[in-house]
Amino acid sequence: MPKIVQNQDPIETKDIPGNTMIEMIKVSRTYAPDIKALSDISFTVDTGELFFLIGRSGAGKTTLLKLICNMDTPSKGLIEVAGHNINNLKGKKLAHLRQKIGVAYQDFKLLSDRTVAENIAISMEVSYKKPRAIRQRVRDLLEQLQLTDKHDALTGDLSRGEQQRIALARSVANSPRLILVDEPTGNLDAATTERVMDLLTRCNKAGATIVIATHDASIYQKGNHRVMELRNGKIHSLSRNSR
Ligand SMILES: Nc1ncnc2c1ncn2[C@@H]1O[C@H](COP(=O)(O)OP(=O)(O)OP(=O)(O)O)[C@@H](O)[C@H]1O
Ligand SMILES: [Mg+2]
Repeated sequence: MPKIVQNQDPIETKDIPGNTMIEMIKVSRTYAPDIKALSDISFTVDTGELFFLIGRSGAGKTTLLKLICNMDTPSKGLIEVAGHNINNLKGKKLAHLRQKIGVAYQDFKLLSDRTVAENIAISMEVSYKKPRAIRQRVRDLLEQLQLTDKHDALTGDLSRGEQQRIALARSVANSPRLILVDEPTGNLDAATTERVMDLLTRCNKAGATIVIATHDASIYQKGNHRVMELRNGKIHSLSRNSR
């Protein structure tokens, strides 16, 4: 009898340039007692797009990223990632989709009692990559981010700017198809900011869809990409920057 092969890979099935990677339809997130962090948000991000999310402190950027990676759930509305309603996925399917999403959190969420190399390696280890490939990838990322000498340091001993780059390295290490980055350059000087953006641009050219939440005009005012501004939890503008 022929074996029925089930599609185990919810995110890769629709991972074709030009398709929609993220779709939000009338999404709201309210926190008790009555904080409207996001109200009635509808937009799409194409597969392979580099998309910027801007807005003042408290505008709702982090909340929006958390909803996309299912760290939080909307109070209302629909969120699809790679064609799947992320709030309906459960168990293995959800875990599998999450493995394909790299997230660099605004507050880093590093394991402070583990070394830099161990932190960066985590996503590759969970998906059973070969130890040699992991070691090489960790070294390459540290070199790109000028942190080679921190390989064996405990992340708890690093400066904020260093921790921020380790969080970024960890989010891209396993070459996820979708990368969500929350304030990647907040603690960095101009030259280091450029290195961080070079790394993200390389990931994007290799096919990753990337959403960057930022206050840093120096990164979103350059290049040809869309920028969405949130104000008080609502979409204020969505336009293409082409400088
Ligand atoms: N868990 C929560 N409980 C209550 N209120 C929350 C919670 N998370 C976020 N908020 C509120 O929702 C609003 C949006 O917060 P969010 O963190 O998304 O803003 P942000 O645009 O990322 O800001 P920043 O630029 O400072 O990082 C804020 O008013 C915030 O206080
Ligand atoms: Mg934030």
